[in-house]
Amino acid sequence: MNKIKIAFFDAKEYDRHSFEESNKSEEFDITFLDTRLSRDTCKLAEDADVVCVFVNDDIDASVIDQLSEMGVKLIALRCAGYNNVDIEYAFRKIHIVRVPAYSPYAVAEHAMALLLTSIRRIHKAYIRTKDFNFSLNGLTGFDLHGKTVGIVGTGKIGRIFIDICRGFGMNVIAYDKFPAADSGITYVSLDELWERSDIISFHCPLTDENRHMVNSDSIAKMKKGVVLINTSRGALIDSEALVEGIKQRQIGAACLDVYEEESDVFFHDYSNHIINDDTLARLISMPNVIVTSHQAFLTNEALQNIADTTLSNIREFISNDTCVNEVCYKCSNLANCKQTHEKKCF
Ligand code: NAI
Repeated sequence: MNKIKIAFFDAKEYDRHSFEESNKSEEFDITFLDTRLSRDTCKLAEDADVVCVFVNDDIDASVIDQLSEMGVKLIALRCAGYNNVDIEYAFRKIHIVRVPAYSPYAVAEHAMALLLTSIRRIHKAYIRTKDFNFSLNGLTGFDLHGKTVGIVGTGKIGRIFIDICRGFGMNVIAYDKFPAADSGITYVSLDELWERSDIISFHCPLTDENRHMVNSDSIAKMKKGVVLINTSRGALIDSEALVEGIKQRQIGAACLDVYEEESDVFFHDYSNHIINDDTLARLISMPNVIVTSHQAFLTNEALQNIADTTLSNIREFISNDTCVNEVCYKCSNLANCKQTHEKKCF
């Protein structure tokens, strides 16, 4: 039998390493491509059976049409989120699989790393001591113990972040569109969460409904000095409203691993360039904003899980014409797929 050909878009050095390790037996013929998948680069997948993509590859209707005309059978997302895929248009045209969890610990731990860095001014202290400046002026933080943290989205990552926060002695409240029964989590309305939280951390998927859930109205309802942490998807936050909220001192700090216009910037080295995005430049210039470039997932454990699950998704789909990790428009409309995809959907 011929080897399954995979066109692997937006390949980074760390992807090659983990996928080569996972494909040691050379079961799959993988072509690593530096470029992202878009309507202009689709043709690079001409001979492929499967395309493998990440968070900032743009899988719109044109890409779906081109891929299905070329005979590509499957889009294998090597990430959990699928907001970059037009899943409604893909329905009955091309199958999509994803990696629902690779290391929820990696993301939750990164969220806490950002929070501690921000409120204890570690990013400032690091630069000072590198320059032999041992002054403490301006580095005063606050205790997390006893503070109220509001968690938006209590799935895999949100729950681990809740456990971490409880370990710090924080009071946890949460909002979820589908609250979990008997979870021991105190659910409140979104408005109550905005009003009561000293810190708010986002762990829900991005949907049409919750795009810009942080906007000038919701910011006005928040406690003065609130700290926002977003390791979920950038467009949950209206960046212009965030800048304004920080300028008004309503928002005390922002920890951002994601940004709504990140696809033009993140994962690339622009250290010798002028950034065209004024909003991002303004945010980065603020002393109480920390930006990491969609790095929360980046641990050895997560990378190996991503590679192993992606290849096993492809193997399962090629053998069975369906896969437990399939993203299906019909299922995802019904409680986020929850691994209940059935062949009859297609
Ligand atoms: P999950 O599917 O286990 O949990 C998501 C939770 O959000 C569920 O409980 C769901 O009911 C809830 N939810 C859905 N719609 C909602 C809404 N409109 N408002 C509030 N809650 C809502 O997902 P998981 O694994 O915990 O991941 C959460 C998000 O983290 C992903 O959607 C992805 O965007 C992001 N992520 C970020 C990574 C990074 O490197 N920065 C890596 C992996 C995931």
